[in-house]
Amino acid sequence: MDRKRIEIQLEERMKTRMNFQETLHPVFPHKEMLVELVNGCNHKCIFCAQSKMTRKRREIDKNLLLRIMREAHELGVKEIGFYSTSEPFLCKNLAMYVKEAKDTGFEYVYITTNGALATPQRLKEVIDSGADSIKFSINAGTSETYKFIHGYDDFDKVISHLRFCKEYRESANRIFKLYVSYIITRFNVGEIELFKERYSRYCDYISFNPVFNLGGMVPEIYDRISSTPPPGKSFKRPCHNLFDSIGITSEGYLTACGCADFQGYLIVADLNKTSLYDGWYSDKFTGLRKRYLADSLEGLQCFNCVYANKLPYEPLDRDYATIIDMADVFTARHLNNRLNKYPGYTGM
Ligand SMILES: C[S@@+](CC[C@H](N)C(=O)[O-])C[C@H]1O[C@@H](n2cnc3c(N)ncnc32)[C@H](O)[C@@H]1O
Ligand code: SF4
Ligand code: SF4
Repeated sequence: MDRKRIEIQLEERMKTRMNFQETLHPVFPHKEMLVELVNGCNHKCIFCAQSKMTRKRREIDKNLLLRIMREAHELGVKEIGFYSTSEPFLCKNLAMYVKEAKDTGFEYVYITTNGALATPQRLKEVIDSGADSIKFSINAGTSETYKFIHGYDDFDKVISHLRFCKEYRESANRIFKLYVSYIITRFNVGEIELFKERYSRYCDYISFNPVFNLGGMVPEIYDRISSTPPPGKSFKRPCHNLFDSIGITSEGYLTACGCADFQGYLIVADLNKTSLYDGWYSDKFTGLRKRYLADSLEGLQCFNCVYANKLPYEPLDRDYATIIDMADVFTARHLNNRLNKYPGYTGM
């Protein structure tokens, strides 16, 4: 398939995501379902809330996930992504889950990874199990900058894994998409062209996107990390998550925010005790949608995320959250050492 067509496909997928109906009782989603197989990571990217996460480390229960996948498929869900707040290759059973998802009937199974643990052997297993796309997150064009941004000296290894994917696809005649994502910060903005020039040959498409306050958990990025000024007061990112995306945490909870519920502050149902369908239409989820539609999100994580604020917030349900000190969310104490060591960095 030619590169242009693949770019259009990716853009179409993004547009479909933005094409959601904001309503109190949305139809059951059929496109997006993100599963957090494990909740830890082997990297510490300077812009990611994973380094702040204080939840107990764990892996999802296999039988529970298989049940949830069956329910989701019966309800019409067609796509499943094995990634969320953490690193999917930390899960030894990743390939098995990809196969189970394909056997269950999911049409599109995808993974987003930092790629460091994605050895040729493990990639083969995941690809041969039927993964439809693999996206590598590589946030620098040189190993020096990569080490600073990711916190680990894995650039060459990750590039070799990406390259292996491309070569294996050709030699073994496998069909899947191969993407790279590059989050733009002030530290790597100057390496974009270099990255394109050297590495675009190893994938179908590279998406370059500016860093943002993902899940309201990394507000420091605007004065310390971003290469662009903070969004103005009128900034409002429409969030499709509440209306057409299913998020499953490693505890087996349904979260309203499949991509960024690092502390369990947006848990709407416990799927160990209830069905996916009942969770989607639970009073808690409906209540949250109501607040979103009435623009009254104050006091919730979504408020900071949507309006790029730094105001204290509470979980939807304290029983399912791991309470975090707001100072740790807002001040990024863990980052100071790394930023101060960056050559020529004076802060803002
Ligand atoms: C949270 S990671 C989890 C999967 C895997 N560990 C990885 O890095 O691909 C999922 C995606 O979120 C992106 N991400 C994390 N923090 C971000 C931020 N503050 N702004 C924009 N993208 C972010 C990562 O670059 C990655 O592409
Ligand atoms: S972006 Fe991915 S690799 Fe980086 S710290 Fe977050 S979860 Fe880990
Ligand atoms: S608005 Fe809420 S649900 Fe949407 S991405 Fe932000 S924190 Fe997650």
